[in-house]
Amino acid sequence: MKVLVIGSGGREHALCWSLAKSPLCSELYCAPGNAGIASVATCVAIGADDLEAIANYCGENKIDFVVVGPEGPLVLGLVDRLTALGVKTFGPSAAAAALEGSKGFMKDICAKYGIPTAAYGRFRDPASAKDFIRTQGAPIVVKTDGLAAGKGVIIAETIEEAEQAVDAAMTDAVFGEAGAELVIEEFMTGEEASFFVLTDGVSALALASAQDHKRVGEGDTGLNTGGMGAYSPAPVLTAEMEQRVLEEIVQPTIDGLHSEGKPFRGVLFAGLMLTAEGPKLIEYNVRFGDPECQVLMLRLQSDLLPALIAACDGNIDQVKLQWHDETALTVVMAAQGYPGSYAKGDAIGGLSAAGSEEGVVVFHAGTKIGEDGAVLANGGRVLNVTAKAPAIAAAQGRAYAAVDRIDWPGGFCRRDIGWREIKRG
Ligand code: AMP
Ligand code: GLY
Repeated sequence: MKVLVIGSGGREHALCWSLAKSPLCSELYCAPGNAGIASVATCVAIGADDLEAIANYCGENKIDFVVVGPEGPLVLGLVDRLTALGVKTFGPSAAAAALEGSKGFMKDICAKYGIPTAAYGRFRDPASAKDFIRTQGAPIVVKTDGLAAGKGVIIAETIEEAEQAVDAAMTDAVFGEAGAELVIEEFMTGEEASFFVLTDGVSALALASAQDHKRVGEGDTGLNTGGMGAYSPAPVLTAEMEQRVLEEIVQPTIDGLHSEGKPFRGVLFAGLMLTAEGPKLIEYNVRFGDPECQVLMLRLQSDLLPALIAACDGNIDQVKLQWHDETALTVVMAAQGYPGSYAKGDAIGGLSAAGSEEGVVVFHAGTKIGEDGAVLANGGRVLNVTAKAPAIAAAQGRAYAAVDRIDWPGGFCRRDIGWREIKRG
């Protein structure tokens, strides 16, 4: 099969790394890819949101199967478009991708089908949003309805802060169109975990669990990011808890969307809060997590490609996946300044030394190849130094040993990825 992966991050590098091993995959392409992806796939200079160019490329090059990495093209309808052209494509339709593309839609589905999540209201004008905030009190969470590159969630400690968030989003439009509507919701407490299933719109196949580290600073402090590191499995999600999440949250969502005429095919990523009252949904993403995908791919023993095809073909119930028992852990190296503004273009050395550490794979998240062939930083999150070992502490040790071999003064990482689990011992 000729397979095309859409995207340019660490998630797509991990997907390509995994797909390249499949005996079913004869040729692997990635649009647009990055410097690391170029070592396992042929990179094609087409942007992930350029639906027209992707559709043309698939036709001209007889692509058999497309795997869409990021949410942007899913929400824009890439899967609908390619499917209409007869190109088998992994990922949800635009209608189903609204689970991530519109937080209000997601919350309404939860309300309609009795799925546990934070209590909420939807607002299109600042005055009623502020009335709601004053009746609910603080802390309270203000979210843009639309996609805002992970920045559209404000955890307000006070009523004043929440009101400022409303003004910033609605009056000053700092998140553009995404903030024209807001979801305002109850603040939940507990430990967070990510849970992934492959679904064909009817059945769900559980993948492994993972835990992300969203804050930029050690000890989970500072600004929210796309994710600074992850590990899998996440033992807080016990087998019993996973069963509850499937029965109470994931399967009712799949069934609900099916009965709405918007069946969800692809990977459904539930961001969970494990509260004292049980697991509750924070949000859905309609794609693999990044950097969670990197640790899942390191642990996956089975061939990924037939499982993705089964999700498209409606026979995910026939698929069984094997996982390595070991723990995988990934450390994100980001450009100094991230998640604020940062410089691009630094040359990065030591990558092959890092990759030669035992059990280590360095995925590229934001790199490009310079004119002289050097690997250059080309994004906020730049590298995902990923390691596998029999236990989490050893995986962490291996990942940081590899990090220390990377020569990039303009980069930084958190030094405590995995701390909750290591502390639990
Ligand atoms: P999201 O982009 O929706 O994943 O939100 C980013 C982060 O904000 C989550 O990972 C949580 O840490 C936090 N968060 C979002 N919603 C809530 C909530 N209702 N209660 C507490 N924390 C939340
Ligand atoms: N790491 C969280 C996400 O991919 O949204």
